[in-house]
Amino acid sequence: RYDAAPFVPEGAGLDVLRRAAADCRGCPLHRAATRTVFGAGNTDARVMLVGEQPGDQEDRQGRPFVGPAGKLLDRALAEAGIDPAAAYVTNAVKHFKFTRAEPRKRRIHKAPSLREMTACGPWLAAELALVEPELIVILGATAGKALLGSSFRVSQVRGTVLEEEIHGRPERLVPTVHPSAVLRADDREQAYQGLVADLKVAARALG
Ligand code: URA
Ligand code: SF4
Repeated sequence: RYDAAPFVPEGAGLDVLRRAAADCRGCPLHRAATRTVFGAGNTDARVMLVGEQPGDQEDRQGRPFVGPAGKLLDRALAEAGIDPAAAYVTNAVKHFKFTRAEPRKRRIHKAPSLREMTACGPWLAAELALVEPELIVILGATAGKALLGSSFRVSQVRGTVLEEEIHGRPERLVPTVHPSAVLRADDREQAYQGLVADLKVAARALG
């Protein structure tokens, strides 16, 4: 069975947690990826942003949202009135999953399976328990399914404040689209404005 739980130290602080995650073998994704990309930010952050999984750049640099999607996200957050540097940023799955069209060619992102998302859940639960954010921003369908279950549909709930119990704790969540979806959209400007509008709901909920 895929499960990160045996690798998660109990009662650990963020640094110990991050070091332990570097050696996680809870599912097969650690084999092909370069490294674990753990969450980044302070444990006193008021808002936690949850993405899908690290991309190519994140896998190389070891930090979440440092590639093109992250740059767009930072711009949208700032425009919505949320300081990107004050947020805790992480992903539902902590290893990059990819395919290659040909050997030694560019690595192409592949969506994680439900089993991999579930396996990686204990890391996200540990991050939530440490950071205790006032608000969680869900970036896209994978993060939504990981936190709220497989019936999650981003189009139905984006830009609204949800109140749900997550890993045994009452949480407030604002779902929105994934910044990579904005980069792929036919009408990029409209998709970007939609992301900013949702993030403004999050900013207002934070007060
Ligand atoms: N996309 C994500 O979901 N997370 C990252 O860290 C980068 C791109
Ligand atoms: Fe562990 Fe998650 Fe990486 Fe799988 S994706 S090996 S569960 S850290």
